[in-house]
Amino acid sequence: MKKAISIAPSVLSADLTNLKQQVETVEKNGAGFIHVDVMDGHFVPNLTFGPIMVSALKRITNLPLDVHLMISNPDQYIETYSAAGADILTVHQEACTHLHRTIQKIHDAGIKAGVSLNPATPLITLENIIYDVDLILIMSVNPGFGGQKFIERSLKKIEDARKMINQTGKDILLEVDGGVNKNNIAQIVKSGADVIVAGNAIFGSGNIAAATRELIEAHK
Ligand code: DX5
Ligand code: ZN
Repeated sequence: MKKAISIAPSVLSADLTNLKQQVETVEKNGAGFIHVDVMDGHFVPNLTFGPIMVSALKRITNLPLDVHLMISNPDQYIETYSAAGADILTVHQEACTHLHRTIQKIHDAGIKAGVSLNPATPLITLENIIYDVDLILIMSVNPGFGGQKFIERSLKKIEDARKMINQTGKDILLEVDGGVNKNNIAQIVKSGADVIVAGNAIFGSGNIAAATRELIEAHK
C-alpha cells in the first residue's frame, strides 16, 4: 500500500533568476511544501536567504513554506519569519541553548515548530522535547550546501526516529533533508520518512516537472 508522503523542493538549488516559474512548476507537479534553507554563515559555513525571500515566496505559491533555520540563536528571528509567511519553522537542536523555550516561541507566533538534528547528533537529545514539536528533521548530509552525498547511516536514524514518533502516539512529521534522489528515496520512505526534501535532484535535473513527478512516483 502506498504511504502518503510529501516532496519539499529546496529552492537553494533553484535558478533564482527564474524563481517564480520554477516554484510554479514544482507546485503544479505535486510538491507538498516549499523548503527554504536559511543559513547565517555562522552555524553553517554558507550564507543564503532571509525573511525577504520567505515573503517573496509567499506571494508566488500557495504551498506551505517549510523554513529550515540553519542559524545560531534563532529566537530573535522567530516573529520575523512568522510575519514573513513561514508555515513551519525548524530550528537546529545544536543551535538552541533553551530549545524548549524556542519551540514555545514558535508556537506563540502561531506556526508549526520543527527541530532538526545534524548527522552527528544522537536522537536521544529529542527525548524530552518530542512531545512539543510538530516535525523532526533528520539531516542526511552536514548542513550548509546542496548537492552533497546522502550519508547511508541516516537510514537507521530515520527508522529509530519513526519508532520514537510512533511511541508518542502523536502526529509528528518526519522529514529527511540532504542527498535524496530517485535511487534512494524508496529506501528513505521505507525507513519511515514522510516529508522528503530535494534540491539538486529537482532543480539540477534539467526537467523540473519530470523530476518532481519522478520522485513522487519513485517511492511507491
Ligand atoms: C543543506 C540544506 C538542504 C539542501 C538539500 O544544508 O538543508 O535543504 O538544499 O539539497 P540536496 O537535495 O541537493 O542535497
Ligand atoms: Zn534544508
